[in-house]
Amino acid sequence: MTSPFHTLGIETSCDETAVSLLRGETEVIANLVYTQAEIHARYGGVVPEIASRDHLRKLPYLVNDALTRAEISLDELSLIATTYGPGLIGPLLVGLSYGKGLAFGLDIPFIGVNHLEGHIFSHRLTSPDLSPPFMALIVSGGHTLLVEARDYGNYRLVGTTVDDAAGEALDKVGKMLGIGYPAGAEIDRLAQEGNPTAIRFPRPMASSPGFDFSFAGLKTAVLYYLRKSPGERKEDVAASFLASVIDVLVKKSLEATRRYHLDRLIVVGGVAANSHLQKRFVIDGQKRGIDVLFPKPVYCTDNAAMIAGAGAFRYLQTGETHPFSLPPAPSLSLHQESER
Ligand code: KG4
Ligand code: ZN
Repeated sequence: MTSPFHTLGIETSCDETAVSLLRGETEVIANLVYTQAEIHARYGGVVPEIASRDHLRKLPYLVNDALTRAEISLDELSLIATTYGPGLIGPLLVGLSYGKGLAFGLDIPFIGVNHLEGHIFSHRLTSPDLSPPFMALIVSGGHTLLVEARDYGNYRLVGTTVDDAAGEALDKVGKMLGIGYPAGAEIDRLAQEGNPTAIRFPRPMASSPGFDFSFAGLKTAVLYYLRKSPGERKEDVAASFLASVIDVLVKKSLEATRRYHLDRLIVVGGVAANSHLQKRFVIDGQKRGIDVLFPKPVYCTDNAAMIAGAGAFRYLQTGETHPFSLPPAPSLSLHQESER
């Protein structure tokens, strides 16, 4: 009997130290995410140097813990997959050096994974049989991207944000409302008790041609509104602001899916965990004959299972690996994956 294929996934591109173990291409047997959010909270955002040091402190323990939980030993690992970009250079370097060192020590293959391609693969952990072609909306703290996935590894950029990412706007509005970083999940909860039609915020670029987004103006509109009406209920501001973000994301993404003659849209990244956004996408998708799919919430936000999944797929399907000289790539785009 051949022994199962085990991939160790490592993700340290920002402020989450994540480690995962995968059996085959999609069976998650350990998934650990340690968030540094509390450490950075007092600074109002991620401090790269502190993030790097904390990844270094935490990573070895998480790897041990994952192996113990999955009841496998180091010598049962078949592949190490580590995020090599995009992200903060210091934090990327920590995960990458650790992953390469472990692969070298164990004499097993190593593969670097594009964090954005990892997000696309996150849906496979929930729906293993789903495969391209489909449209993908990646909505996170760092990115808002509409991507036509013709095949795995073959992506065409359809739209992006011209300023803030959707999650970034949520986090900044959260700050105005006195919510700690990251604010997305709390805005989700507040909006349950608010009225989404209480305040009419703008729907930036909703009617403009093309599939680009813009969220900076909307964020400023909320700031001016709060200055003018400081007594407004937080729940109503959160619900009304969220309604604007959702309106634009849903409209543009469904239009793009149709325009590219596709009937499936996957929504991934931290903001995809939003319950209001999921409901609207499913209802409006049905009206237009488009199946809208989301990963489980734990695989929406940053995790290493999606990194292990993308790495295992590439290695098992194409034999691809990376040399130990692979450097971190802070500005890596998804487009570059199509050229490999
Ligand atoms: O994918 P992710 O974990 O990290 C990046 O690659 O950026 O996304 C983080 C973003 C943050 O902006 C956070 O506020 C947002 O996802 N987020 C949410 C929810 N959970 C996390 N936004 C809306 N609703 C949620 N439930
Ligand atoms: Zn991410």
